[in-house]
Amino acid sequence: MTRTDGAPLLQAENFSGGFAGADGRIVPVLNGVSFTVEAGSFFAIVGESGSGKSLTALAAMGVLPPGFHHTGGAIRFDGTDLLSLDEASLRKIRGSQISIVFQDARAALNPVFTVGRQIMDVCRMHQKISPKEAREKAEHMLEMVRVPEPKRRMKQYPHEFSGGMAQRALLAMALICQPRLLILDEPTTGLDVTIQADIIDLIIDIRATSKMTTCLITHDLGIVAETCDRVAVMQNGTVCELDSCEHILTAPSHPYTRQLIANSQLEELS
Ligand SMILES: Nc1ncnc2c1ncn2[C@@H]1O[C@H](COP(=O)(O)OP(=O)(O)O)[C@@H](O)[C@H]1O
Ligand SMILES: [Mg+2]
Repeated sequence: MTRTDGAPLLQAENFSGGFAGADGRIVPVLNGVSFTVEAGSFFAIVGESGSGKSLTALAAMGVLPPGFHHTGGAIRFDGTDLLSLDEASLRKIRGSQISIVFQDARAALNPVFTVGRQIMDVCRMHQKISPKEAREKAEHMLEMVRVPEPKRRMKQYPHEFSGGMAQRALLAMALICQPRLLILDEPTTGLDVTIQADIIDLIIDIRATSKMTTCLITHDLGIVAETCDRVAVMQNGTVCELDSCEHILTAPSHPYTRQLIANSQLEELS
């Protein structure tokens, strides 16, 4: 079901930038990225490795990696240019209004703190609640993302979590403040196929019970077909095709999109 009130929540407007090469000149990696994610929609960004998906996702959190030079354009969240905000304002938005889940969950968790503590910290950073309330909330979130024995799991460290369980914990952390926008950057890449399917089912269930706007980055067109309303296809740091999911999958107009679809059909056959 498509849930969208039509208002733009995230907008990339000609967003461009790159990294300095050996000669000091900026080598562009994002070349005028433009798309709009409407509030309530399930948006996908697809494209091969190196096409600029993760950099775009980071920019949507107001994060520019070290060495990245922004050369033009803007990323707006609810109308505000994220790059015009100072770090303190961005910290308020991250985790509470926009959350991101990365590919390698165990690397994203801090190895020296328990998983429970890390989920509680996100919650306490943004809400004035007691440690007890934060603990209850964190436990409830772990339960919601289907981590068995949440009470016991809260006390464990990231290395005691499997890849799939760590991904669920990261999802709990991302969702605990009920963000308006959830960005998932290849959330199932590197996991076993059955665990991938479980995580995708979980994301679909969460979507069904909330109105959260979701932006899924993936190279799995099967998942896109199952979940998304609109799709941006990225190639070489630019959006080469932007359309409804149905149109992209059944009547792609860009040769690169056609190639992606042909490749994914080959993968399915093999
Ligand atoms: N820190 C960095 N320094 C230099 N180049 C980078 C850095 N991060 C990303 N890039 C380059 O930017 C391009 C886009 O990267 P990325 O957004 O991670 O692609 P994707 O997520 O689509 O695989 C790639 O060519 C990558 O090599
Ligand atoms: Mg990436």
